[in-house]
Amino acid sequence: MKKSYYCKKLESTIHFLPRLVKFCCSIGEGPDYEIKNYNYIDKKIFEKYRNKYINELKKGIIPEACKGCPDCKEKVADKKNIFKWLIQPKRKYKISHIIINHYRECDCSCIYCATKLFDKGELPHYDVVPAIKNLFKFDLIDKENLCVEIQGGNISMLKEFENIIDEFQKNGCSYFLVLMNGIKYVPALEKISKDNRSAICVSLDAGTKETFAKIKQVDAFEQTIENLKKLRQNTNIIISLKYIILREINDNIEELKKFLDIAKELIYLGAVVIDIDYRESRWGGVEDGENYNIPELYCDLINYAEKYCKDNRINFEKSSIIKNLLKEI
Ligand SMILES: C[S@@+](CC[C@H](N)C(=O)[O-])C[C@H]1O[C@@H](n2cnc3c(N)ncnc32)[C@H](O)[C@@H]1O
Repeated sequence: MKKSYYCKKLESTIHFLPRLVKFCCSIGEGPDYEIKNYNYIDKKIFEKYRNKYINELKKGIIPEACKGCPDCKEKVADKKNIFKWLIQPKRKYKISHIIINHYRECDCSCIYCATKLFDKGELPHYDVVPAIKNLFKFDLIDKENLCVEIQGGNISMLKEFENIIDEFQKNGCSYFLVLMNGIKYVPALEKISKDNRSAICVSLDAGTKETFAKIKQVDAFEQTIENLKKLRQNTNIIISLKYIILREINDNIEELKKFLDIAKELIYLGAVVIDIDYRESRWGGVEDGENYNIPELYCDLINYAEKYCKDNRINFEKSSIIKNLLKEI
């Protein structure tokens, strides 16, 4: 039977990066097109590029940029239905996931930061608000379901952070997911807690001041914890905490246990999220990354965290990379 593929992310995502717009969550590989004019997303060009990738997948061709990506799924259907799907008239794909990731200014310097792998040299600075206005003007956004994910850099260094929030809220979209470090208190976060789905995920990655400083290269462990307490007090924002397992830095039970004890206090409706360092695998561009297996020690740490969370009634999540590697999705 004829093979055919699809990717939900490709159909529904726009990802603003420093030099490119991508149609998925990846900052390295992934389907993209280069931005010529940062103030304007040309509807025709945007749709032309996106449809090219969608149609290639439909025809059973995995584009070079998507090779090896676990989000490319095979369309399983009988011959008749596949045929119907292949010839169906062009669907109108709307954007339900916007990733704001076009700036790199940050108030720490994580030793693992994946952006350093991909964003070499001088980066253009652009204001993403005009492009957002454009997406609304051209009716490209699924307003009801839109999730706005903000990465970076760090929001504390993003001058237009509040303008970005205002622009979405003005258009009736108030569901935000912010990945951040928590080193500075950002009052504009109080605005986004209006929507009870909005959430932050803080990469704390450590349970002690010393390990935090080694990883982030700034001495700001206690102040990060104070800021998280303040956010819990002033907002109803969902709070998750992340722990990226880093070889010979935090890959031990003592550090993890201290992190989990802190997480128990700080997490609000969110989860402990365990991840591995992308730089060890294909996602960090490692040549034979395809053959990467999660080391046994990491599996022990993941299991320890899972049990701790279960015993303490805290939500627990493995990152999608871990789940993929463990063949859980
Ligand atoms: C580049 S950071 C920027 C946002 C913010 N400054 C923060 O610390 O979350 C975005 C996300 O990428 C994750 N990340 C960056 N490098 C990574 C790596 N090598 N392995 C796993 N996750 C990584 C971080 O944990 C964070 O959740």
